[in-house]
Amino acid sequence: MVEAVTVIMILGGFGCVVVSIVYFSIANGISPMPSTPKTVRAMIALLNEGEIGGQILELGSGWGHVAVALAMAFPSAKVVAIENSWIPFWVSWLLSGAGLRKNLSFQRADFYQFPLVEADVLVCYLFPGAMDRLQDKILRECKDGCIIVSNTFAMPGWTAMRQIRLGGLWNTHLYVYRVGENRTE
Ligand SMILES: C[S@@+](CC[C@H](N)C(=O)[O-])C[C@H]1O[C@@H](n2cnc3c(N)ncnc32)[C@H](O)[C@@H]1O
Repeated sequence: MVEAVTVIMILGGFGCVVVSIVYFSIANGISPMPSTPKTVRAMIALLNEGEIGGQILELGSGWGHVAVALAMAFPSAKVVAIENSWIPFWVSWLLSGAGLRKNLSFQRADFYQFPLVEADVLVCYLFPGAMDRLQDKILRECKDGCIIVSNTFAMPGWTAMRQIRLGGLWNTHLYVYRVGENRTE
């Protein structure tokens, strides 16, 4: 009897985890698919070419490994990782040392509602619709000079400052933009 209850509880818990991940993937239009280690290394190498300090915002931080790598690579920057899907959010918070890393914080929030005014760097791996939707917000809120590094998806209509082809199974590209260089008004 006790074993049956335990099995039911484990299966129920597992079911809730799956339902939560599927629900947010559908609502967001994207699953928490992680950037590959090669892509994360390339992002850090790109950012290392400039003077990186201030605030690095990761829009949609998934399981948290990109934010952790950024916080380790840039100890003088403050990394803020934003994720609205509960399970990846909790996993990333736990894996990153449960909030113990001083220059890294995870926030469970919708990044469309999150202020971008203090960001010096934006990092994301989203999808074309999200890049489109973010464009106006970025132009309204980000300061000139803010660097955007996007895994795979280009900002529609903008000219990238750098574009790197990493190849691989998904033919990954990294796009780098500087806010201000694509303003039309
Ligand atoms: C493809 S994953 C990338 C995860 C991580 N950035 C990486 O590179 O490994 C995109 C993430 O963005 C999150 N996301 C999508 N829309 C969001 C929103 N409006 N607010 C917060 N997170 C969002 C998804 O839940 C998902 O975890």
